[in-house]
Amino acid sequence: MMSDPNPTDAVILVGGKGTRLRPLTLSAPKPMLPTAGLPFLTHLLARIEAAGVKHVVLGTSFKAEVFEDYFGDGSKMGLEIDYVFETEPLGTGGGIRNVLPKLRGDNVMVFNGDVLGGTDLNAILETHEKTDADVTLHLVRVGDPRAFGCVPTDEDGRVSAFLEKTQDPPTDQINAGCYVFKREIIEQIPEGRPVSVEREVFPNLLAEGKRVFGHVDSSYWRDMGTPEDFVRGSADLVRGIAPSPALEGPRGESLVHPGAGIAPGAVLIGGTVVGRGAEVGAGARLDGAILFDGAVVEAGAVVERSILGFGVRIGPRALVRDAVIGDGADIGARCELLRGARVWPGVTLPDGGVRFSTDV
Ligand code: GTP
Repeated sequence: MMSDPNPTDAVILVGGKGTRLRPLTLSAPKPMLPTAGLPFLTHLLARIEAAGVKHVVLGTSFKAEVFEDYFGDGSKMGLEIDYVFETEPLGTGGGIRNVLPKLRGDNVMVFNGDVLGGTDLNAILETHEKTDADVTLHLVRVGDPRAFGCVPTDEDGRVSAFLEKTQDPPTDQINAGCYVFKREIIEQIPEGRPVSVEREVFPNLLAEGKRVFGHVDSSYWRDMGTPEDFVRGSADLVRGIAPSPALEGPRGESLVHPGAGIAPGAVLIGGTVVGRGAEVGAGARLDGAILFDGAVVEAGAVVERSILGFGVRIGPRALVRDAVIGDGADIGARCELLRGARVWPGVTLPDGGVRFSTDV
């Protein structure tokens, strides 16, 4: 077969520090955090490959080497992956401009590296072609748009404004973090300084009268940037609510990886993931829990909607709910860690050391 003379490139921005997911992102960049047993980026790369886009450029900065160590030249996934490093993070727009020398085609599909999505990527490319847009944005309809920037479109699908978060949004269409650019638009982004695509590039293109269109749908969509969203997105992958060509076989209430040990009487529900070599003790209850490899939950402990980093230990009858526990932390028996708690890597809490109740 002849190769496509004018291929579409994919660019994935993966250079952010992922501060909202600390302390997990102190040791791994956000797009590499295990999600349903695979580095998060694997799910996005598999969707890109399934859409027929084969050349991918990763715009890296924070912990750049981790990506290349894992994905290499991309051939194992049927892709050709290039890496472009930013010494100083250049922001979303600057990151796109910085990969220009690696681009091959006239059109470039750009992705935020932390979005779990189910949209039809070829349908976005078709909208881009059909409208002869300079830039096409994937806009997704969400139930509560107040937490996001809204992007209204006119009857032809042309973007009319970029609005900041507001309590009274005029539309339920939000920027889904996936765009198709004509290459010449990327050439016009200022070089060598931080630029935000959302705050600078898009508003400027509108002001200049460029053809900016929206591709609107109601597909599965979740920005995985916070612990709450990461937990929900991971559970949705496990249960098959979020699609991923990288996951095989039937989906269910939990996903237990090889080498994990589950004692009798343990309950695993809510899209729980148990990593390789992890251990769950008798009578423990895991509901929407994510156990990275080697994590241990001892007998009678309860873990709900929480992430346990590599090698964490949760002591007998402890309660962990809506919390993030950093790699190697050791949580003593009967401790209670509730909503929003973040335990830093390697910290040891003695038995009964943190409680929300007065029982002894
Ligand atoms: P927070 O610190 O928690 O806000 O996370 P973040 O640093 O990842 O920022 P954000 O979620 O806004 O980033 C959206 C996407 O763009 C993520 O996939 C980031 O990796 C990526 N990104 C953010 N800033 C940069 C940058 O300066 N350069 C590159 N190449 N990518 C970036």
